[in-house]
Amino acid sequence: MSKVRIGFIGCGGRAGSHMRALGQREDTEIVGACDVVEAAARRAGERLGVPHYTDHRTLLGRDDLDAVVISVPVFAHGQVELDVIARGLPFLLEKPVARDLETARRVAGALRQAGLWAAIGYQLRYTPAVRQAKAFMVGRRVAVVEGHYWCTTARGGAWQNDWEKSGGQLVEQATHTIDLMRHLVGEVEEVYSQQASRILSAITSPDAYTVSLRFTDGALGSLTSSWTHDTGDWSHANIVNVSLDGCLLRLDGAGARVLPAGKAELPEVAGAEDMYKAFVRSVRAGGPEGILSGYDDALATLAVSLAANESAATHRPVRVAEAVGR
Ligand SMILES: NC(=O)c1ccc[n+]([C@@H]2O[C@H](COP(=O)([O-])OP(=O)(O)OC[C@H]3O[C@@H](n4cnc5c(N)ncnc54)[C@H](O)[C@@H]3O)[C@@H](O)[C@H]2O)c1
Repeated sequence: MSKVRIGFIGCGGRAGSHMRALGQREDTEIVGACDVVEAAARRAGERLGVPHYTDHRTLLGRDDLDAVVISVPVFAHGQVELDVIARGLPFLLEKPVARDLETARRVAGALRQAGLWAAIGYQLRYTPAVRQAKAFMVGRRVAVVEGHYWCTTARGGAWQNDWEKSGGQLVEQATHTIDLMRHLVGEVEEVYSQQASRILSAITSPDAYTVSLRFTDGALGSLTSSWTHDTGDWSHANIVNVSLDGCLLRLDGAGARVLPAGKAELPEVAGAEDMYKAFVRSVRAGGPEGILSGYDDALATLAVSLAANESAATHRPVRVAEAVGR
């Protein structure tokens, strides 16, 4: 295969990052851009010097595609993925995989049936810090894991603020922190969540979330998230602290470290890796090679967010295991 030829479905903010990252690679070529908003599709097409489309099925009608990037809002998942699968293409899909489990299960089933694969945009899994943390955690017993995602998104958001469209911050955004907790500690058995609208009363999504988690091996977890503070300060997003036997593993914007310093060494991880490299390598190989978040795994992360939402609505603990068929 010469260059991997990629089509884009969704040309919004996040797609711009994917276009820049893939556009810089010598082994990829973006060949078409689609967005249901014509102005967004045209802007992307003109910037990239490629044809633009307003219907993903027209883009998929091209015979020169090797793969697709799908970067649409949470509420827009389902038919797009099913059409890409029917066209026989692997895809890079932005998280979360859907707004509801039924849609996600339908796509997961279609992928399985078609023998296809997808890479999901939990890009933090590929960072050196998370790879080191993951290697460090092997065989270690966790007492408790604490995570938080505090930021300012809901002050500038659009569909993100709309509960029906996004599922709120746990589905749309703190899904990254939930995914890191699952990645490092293991599967979640049960959650209990409380949610409140404390500051941003004009939006339909809560702006304060707490989640208590019990993992399958008995470890406990706690997550808080809020998207109200107005500082533009992202240093409180995706923080994870894991309390282990005699030390603490901390993940934040500065990387991964073991505390107290000198108590234990983080393992070295070999080679520069990132999500795009793994995706392009896998397209070339005709199957996943080093994909650190596949569709079923990301579905399990979604199940935790949705169970937390259900718990907050019913004021009861909700089991996650059944939702993902464990
Ligand atoms: N991994 C990350 O760190 C990260 C960061 C930001 C956003 N995201 C995720 O990326 C996704 C997109 O977010 P965004 O910030 O780019 O939103 P956005 O609103 O800026 O862009 C989404 C675009 O998709 C288009 N769209 C909607 N339905 C479509 C369809 N059926 N076909 C084609 N285009 C369609 C919209 O018109 C819009 O232009 C979300 O799931 C979000 O959670 C991930």
